[in-house]
Amino acid sequence: MILVFGSLNADFFLSVQTFPLPGETVLTPGALIKAGGKGANQAAAAAKAGGLVKMIGAVGTDEVAKVPVTALKALGIDCSGIQVSQLATGMAMIMVDGQGENSIVVASGANTTVSADAVAQTVLNEETILVMQMEVPPEENFKLLRRAKAAGAKTILNVAPARAISESDLKLADYLILNEIEADTVYSALFEKTFLGIEEKAAAISDKTGGVCLITTGADGVVGAQRGDIFKASALPVCPVDTTGAGDAFVGIFAAMLDNGLDTRQAVRYAAAGAGLACLKIGAQESLPTLKEIESRIEEIKIS
Ligand code: RIB
Repeated sequence: MILVFGSLNADFFLSVQTFPLPGETVLTPGALIKAGGKGANQAAAAAKAGGLVKMIGAVGTDEVAKVPVTALKALGIDCSGIQVSQLATGMAMIMVDGQGENSIVVASGANTTVSADAVAQTVLNEETILVMQMEVPPEENFKLLRRAKAAGAKTILNVAPARAISESDLKLADYLILNEIEADTVYSALFEKTFLGIEEKAAAISDKTGGVCLITTGADGVVGAQRGDIFKASALPVCPVDTTGAGDAFVGIFAAMLDNGLDTRQAVRYAAAGAGLACLKIGAQESLPTLKEIESRIEEIKIS
C-alpha cells in the first residue's frame, strides 16, 4: 500500500504568454480551477498507475476543499485520513507561459495543520511505501518518517519545495527525489559548499545519506545514485503544454512501480515515461497516465 502524507490544494491556473515582470500587469481570458497540491498529485499519479493509495492531509471546511478531495475519491483513493481544519483549504496560483513552464505561489492554509499523530500505527508496516513532500510542516514529516522506518516501511522523500534538511533527517528516507534546485539546496546544506556536476551531486548525497538519490532534470531525464552505482534515464520526447505536476507524477508513479516489485532502475523508467505524459494538458492531474499508457511509451526511455 502507498501512503501519501502531504498537501492538498485547489490550483488556479492563469495562462500567459510570458510571466509579468515586477510592476507589470498582463491579461488572460480566464482562470481554470483544478485539483492540486504536491501530496494529492503524487497520490493521484500512483493510483492512476494502478497503486492502492491512502492519502493523509488536511483541507478546510470551505467549498474549495471539494476540488482536491473529489478528484482523489474519483480515483479510488482512501481519503478517510484527510483531516478537516479551521484554516482555509490550500490554494495555489499557477502561471503557465507559452513554453509550458510555470511559476507557482501556494497559500498553504490547512496544509500547515497536518498532524503525524493522526496516522494510525496499523498503516505503517513492511508493506507500506510512505511518500512525502515538503508542503506540510517538516517536523510532522520527520516524526512520521521515524515511525515508518521503525515499522519497516519503505520511505520516499521528495524535497519539494526546496528546503535544507539535516543529515540525520535525510537518512530516514530510503529514496530522495529532487529536482535540480532541490538537489542544490540539499547538497549545500549537507556539504556547506556548492558542487558542479549532477552525477557527482547525486553520488555524494547518496553516499552521505545511505539512500538512493534521484535527481530529475526535466527534458534531460533523470540521474540516479544508489550505493556507488550511478545511472541515467532519458526523458520522454514531448512538446509540453504544462509541466506543472510533472515532478509529482514522477514520484507517484515511482512509488507505484516499487510497490509492484520493480527495482529502482525499472521504476525510474516508468516514472520518467509517466512524467513526460503528464505534461500534455493544463493541470497537475489532468494528463496523469494509466499504467497501459506508460507501457505504450516505456521503450523510449533509455537507461545508461
Ligand atoms: O507540484 C505542483 C503543485 O505544486 C501544484 O499542484 C500546486 O498545488 C503546488 O502545490
